[in-house]
Amino acid sequence: MASVMYALLLCLTAGALSVVQGEDPYLFFTWNVTYGTISPLGVPQQAILINGQFPGPNINSTSNNNIVLNVFNNLDEPFLLTWSGIQQRKNSWQDGTLGTMCPIAPGTNFTYRFQVKDQIGSYMYYPVTAMHRAAGGFGGLRINSRLLIPVPYADPEDEYTVMIGDWYTKSHTALKKLLDSGRTMGRPDGILINGKNAKGDGKDEPLFTMKPGKTYKYRVCNVGFKNSLNFRIQGHPLKLVEMEGSHTVQNTYESLDVHLGQCFSLLVTADKERKDYYMVASTRFTKTVLTGKGIIRYENGNGPASPELPEAPVGWAWSLNQFRSFRWNLTASAARPNPQGSYHYGKINITRTIKIVNSASRVNGKLRYAINGVSHVESETPLKLAQYFGVADKVFKYDTIQDEPPATVEDKVTLAPNVVNQTFRDFVEIIFENHEKSIQSWHLDGYSFFAVAIEPGRWTPEKRKNYNLLDGVSRHTIQVFPKSWAAIMLTFDNAGMWNVRSEQPERRYLGQQFYVSVLSPARSLRDEYNLPETTQLCGIVKDLPKPPPYSA
Ligand SMILES: *[C@@H]1O[C@H](CO)[C@@H](O)[C@H](O)[C@H]1NC(C)=O
Ligand SMILES: *[C@@H]1O[C@H](CO)[C@@H](O)[C@H](O)[C@H]1NC(C)=O
Ligand SMILES: *[C@@H]1O[C@H](CO)[C@@H](O)[C@H](O)[C@H]1NC(C)=O
Ligand SMILES: *[C@@H]1O[C@H](CO)[C@@H](O)[C@H](O)[C@H]1NC(C)=O
Ligand SMILES: *[C@@H]1O[C@H](CO)[C@@H](O)[C@H](O)[C@H]1NC(C)=O
Ligand SMILES: *[C@@H]1O[C@H](CO)[C@@H](O)[C@H](O)[C@H]1NC(C)=O
Repeated sequence: MASVMYALLLCLTAGALSVVQGEDPYLFFTWNVTYGTISPLGVPQQAILINGQFPGPNINSTSNNNIVLNVFNNLDEPFLLTWSGIQQRKNSWQDGTLGTMCPIAPGTNFTYRFQVKDQIGSYMYYPVTAMHRAAGGFGGLRINSRLLIPVPYADPEDEYTVMIGDWYTKSHTALKKLLDSGRTMGRPDGILINGKNAKGDGKDEPLFTMKPGKTYKYRVCNVGFKNSLNFRIQGHPLKLVEMEGSHTVQNTYESLDVHLGQCFSLLVTADKERKDYYMVASTRFTKTVLTGKGIIRYENGNGPASPELPEAPVGWAWSLNQFRSFRWNLTASAARPNPQGSYHYGKINITRTIKIVNSASRVNGKLRYAINGVSHVESETPLKLAQYFGVADKVFKYDTIQDEPPATVEDKVTLAPNVVNQTFRDFVEIIFENHEKSIQSWHLDGYSFFAVAIEPGRWTPEKRKNYNLLDGVSRHTIQVFPKSWAAIMLTFDNAGMWNVRSEQPERRYLGQQFYVSVLSPARSLRDEYNLPETTQLCGIVKDLPKPPPYSA
């Protein structure tokens, strides 16, 4: 009875705030975030658990569901989760980045309220505070298609979430200390698949079970720190059906390179000999290859997995070619019944080109990562709130970086909150140019973008003729190979303050991120929701009077 009352109350509260639409179903979650001890690589270490679990629980939702998720922070540090790839239409208030929200203070709780509006696909959530992601607090988030919308493949027998990532045995506090003292966190110690690595001694419990003859959907995300991972399953081809919210042309691969922050949905059919098989994730582009394994078991199977693991590809040209094979299925419906390809992005004129060049350098003897010569620092007052309360000038400057960066971005690095002012609804091209020897992975909040090209060398306007202007996949994270560039295109039609970040948490923490401020001049509820009543205030806006709400 009490819980029913509680749910009703929350419904009413959420409805009254008009943060979410009344007609779509609500899903309620209560998450208790605590420390615990785990030993995934054989060494006991402190972990961040959600309801006792590592990785955290899966969120299973359907397009347009309203999520009401009450997070109790029982850590001794401020904590915040972001919902990677969830677009938060009109609602950067709930995006869970430090530029949009005050972190949840230790010993308190905060309720996220957001809608998974017009989206389908495989996503994940993870902490953005400190180095918390190195201790856990992450998990999968799936958005199923509504029943009335056709999905371009038969219903799988079951769906499995697979969180792969490199892993450190050092605690998140030790890693943060290294970074704070100006050093790097170094190389990871192993690879985990759903928080485990099979020993191969015949005693491993299977991660997943398949019925012979049936087809399963594996939702694979790389939640690691440093490395792109090659993912494969012994003897089983992988049919790619979805990537970060888009139905793809259904190519079949022996293995897939999953770069940091990326998610793929793969169909796997259990049509081989009835026994165990290894699922493998191994580091790419590293001298020493780290490998993680997990068992997949056939129901009533008989026999262990072969110790011979399938080989991973070598070099990054292979990976680039694989990127080029990814295509958007133009005729499939996404979260709405109209075909994905009805949005002809290749026909829209570009109004702005922003070039982002990443760099690593030392500032006052300490390692910092920057873009276009600016290394982002978090402000105590979230940027979005400072802007909303009319005190932005006390917290940050707009446009500290130039759209066309200086030739030598490494030479002079400034530390400052980094906010780019972007005109609402403009169609923009962003070039990520990587002059470094390591691979990068870039993520944009609040949107999906068209990944139109990745090429070696430097970008010039002439390179536009090589863009895929027809069926580039609409997604939220893109890799940039060493000494290469990548181009994305999007319409900035979601008002809010949106984080663009390196998916390497070390780089993000040490400044390789920025925010795009997309202001609707109308201050209208059509463009952006009102500041939620429940928003936590901190920094200089803590005791300021609330500005008048937006009008209809
Ligand atoms: C969260 O877990 C801690 C440790 O198990 C427990 O003490 C606390 O009561 C829990 N809180 C909630 C809200 O469930
Ligand atoms: C996820 O939700 C869908 C739709 O409500 C349901 O059919 C499915 O069984 C759920 N899956 C899991 C693993 O809970
Ligand atoms: C904290 O949790 C309680 C329920 O235990 C809830 O009533 C309250 O609204 C939550 N507070 C916030 C700020 O979400
Ligand atoms: C694309 O989607 C359509 C419509 O659902 C489907 O019939 C077709 O098989 C898909 N094409 C490919 C190549 O995956
Ligand atoms: C795009 O630019 C071209 C060339 O400048 C122009 O002819 C065309 O009308 C523009 N299209 C739109 C939709 O603005
Ligand atoms: C941001 O850009 C918009 C549109 O160009 C402009 O109206 C506004 O004044 C700019 N704001 C700042 C603070 O630069």
